[in-house]
Amino acid sequence: MSSTATDWRSEPAPAWERPEIGNHPIEGYRYTSREFFQREFDHVFAKTWLLLGRQAELPNPGDWQREEVGPESILMVRQDDGSIKAFYNVCQHRGNRLVFDEKGHVKRFVCQYHSWAYLTDGTLNFAQDQEDFPQGNPCDNVRLKDVKCETFAGFIWINMDPDAGSLRDYLGPIWDDWNQYPIADWKRYLALTVRVPCNWKVIQDNFNESYHLRSVHPEAAVQIEEGYKETQFDMCAEGHGRMIMHAGYPARSLEGEKMRAPLMAMMKEWELDPEDFRGRERDIRVALQQQKRTLGPQRGYEYFDNLRDEQLTDFYHYNIFPNFSVSVTADGFHFLRSRPHPTDPEQCIFDNWYYGAVPEGETRPVGTPAGLVARDAPVKHEVLDYGDRSIGRGMDQDMSITTGQQLGFRSRGFEGVYLSGQEARVRRYHELIDEYIQGVRPHGRLNARSVSPIK
Ligand code: FES
Ligand SMILES: [Fe+2]
Repeated sequence: MSSTATDWRSEPAPAWERPEIGNHPIEGYRYTSREFFQREFDHVFAKTWLLLGRQAELPNPGDWQREEVGPESILMVRQDDGSIKAFYNVCQHRGNRLVFDEKGHVKRFVCQYHSWAYLTDGTLNFAQDQEDFPQGNPCDNVRLKDVKCETFAGFIWINMDPDAGSLRDYLGPIWDDWNQYPIADWKRYLALTVRVPCNWKVIQDNFNESYHLRSVHPEAAVQIEEGYKETQFDMCAEGHGRMIMHAGYPARSLEGEKMRAPLMAMMKEWELDPEDFRGRERDIRVALQQQKRTLGPQRGYEYFDNLRDEQLTDFYHYNIFPNFSVSVTADGFHFLRSRPHPTDPEQCIFDNWYYGAVPEGETRPVGTPAGLVARDAPVKHEVLDYGDRSIGRGMDQDMSITTGQQLGFRSRGFEGVYLSGQEARVRRYHELIDEYIQGVRPHGRLNARSVSPIK
């Protein structure tokens, strides 16, 4: 299949609908108040689909993975029939946590306190002295508490609201977008989890705008157009965001400057000679798209046939409400998740992970946001404190800002944000939080201004 002028793949992605946006004040207490933090957890985290686990971590029946979100600990367990169930990681006898490791394999989960034992489907299978319970044999009355669970793109998503609708409905247009890539097969090549001294939203606010690129990531302009007029900003009724940034050429702000090494390396990788583009650097993006279109399938990237030309070079950056952002490129998935701290609104847990495509026969190392990684290298999940060491230049830059911003949010001298048009997704994001807290769902809203800000 080749690309032609009439081919849908040569067209940019159609814009999503743009919900009406209000004018909520966004003040510092949203990032520091314990009361607000608790309301968010009860009304947002406990009511939305959260990307939590990865199917590939649980290949066999009895394999399990544990992930934390705020004060909750969730177990995801592969069942005998191949499906996955999720449970709260809490013994129903007297509340002991069942497991503390990150992952493992069991026939039964045995509580360390009084040895109650649960099968992998959540059934209580053993309780010592079971005849000694006035309310009846616990094995007849008690099981692990289920959490709603679905899978998509190789990830395990959970929802603590038993009445939640389907994940597909929740994700809206993201479902079809992501189905164009074989993300389920992609492998994790970077897994750095960092305890960061800022509220979880500070990190997502940052990923909801590109206004900071020129000042915080000045080096990005060598291969990304960071100007807002050429960036596509989308919001959908379901509450998620998308931002498409053109890449594969120098930004207009660098016009007349010498081509830089990262772009030249990318060109050489796709058999383009930088010398041929001196003085016409803005042609590189389309040339790269054509090279990838032609050479991609024979290099093991068969799915390039399903992608638009712009998807071959550009950054498709998504913000999935409430706490997940990702930059999707033609061959990578930069996973950017912030999770609330169990008790402290001024701390969070940030996952800076990267999944890369696995084209058959490819032996060259994978370029992750924290440097090159050998394809066959074992990738260890590391948990760090902010500042322990670099987590990759771009993320170091972002984290240095978020921690400083948290300090400013405590100040009585800060009376609320003053946002530009290109930061509209930040405004919308906070409106959604207030809507959820007030029991309004994005689909049910008449317009954003019907919901008042929460204090
Ligand atoms: S708390 Fe788990 S068996 Fe008692
Ligand atoms: Fe950034």
